[in-house]
Amino acid sequence: MSSVSYAFLDNAPVIPVIAIQKMEHAVPLAEALIAGGIMNLEVTLRTEHALKAITLIRDQVNGANVGVGTVCNATEFDAAVDAGANFVVSPGQSDALFERALLTNIPFLPGAVTATEVMAAKEAGFNVLKFFPASTSGGAAAIKAFAGPFADLQFVPTGGINLDNAGSYLSLSNVRAVGGSWLTPADAIQNGQWEHITQIAREASQLGA
Ligand code: 3PG
Repeated sequence: MSSVSYAFLDNAPVIPVIAIQKMEHAVPLAEALIAGGIMNLEVTLRTEHALKAITLIRDQVNGANVGVGTVCNATEFDAAVDAGANFVVSPGQSDALFERALLTNIPFLPGAVTATEVMAAKEAGFNVLKFFPASTSGGAAAIKAFAGPFADLQFVPTGGINLDNAGSYLSLSNVRAVGGSWLTPADAIQNGQWEHITQIAREASQLGA
């Protein structure tokens, strides 16, 4: 069983899923989100800048708790932790990822959307799971149903979540937080509209309050 703390998710209902398209966006984007009350920042490995962006944010943005997303194998896990990631999120799961995470003190959120996947993650020792893609995997109703057989597990749904529907997830007792890319619209980043992103973050950080 992993004894790692997931306290970073306390009082932090929303995790932005961040894709860094240009390195110069990393610091001002992180600062804009922090200014709006969003401290946990998931930088996905979907772009070539991700690892360097994680290091930059960690070193230069006060108050940021930077993590990594879209981690699909143990090599990526190691690279992200070396870069400074404080938490690791995967869209799915594998024995190699479980093993690697259990060797570290880094909070790991494996992905699971079926009862079988949830059981595998639980058996490996993980109690806080990503639920992705949420909207096409049964949404809030599916997570609510998991509360019966998996009363001791908590979920962080992402995929198709936005300001309008986040509340339906966050009202569930077994949802620890929600994630999504709605906080970081690509056009706003491209145009340097950091105030706009701070405003979105402010609204998001009030969710579940
Ligand atoms: C993720 O990686 O968690 C999802 O791609 C985020 O999904 P969204 O873009 O629908 O918010």
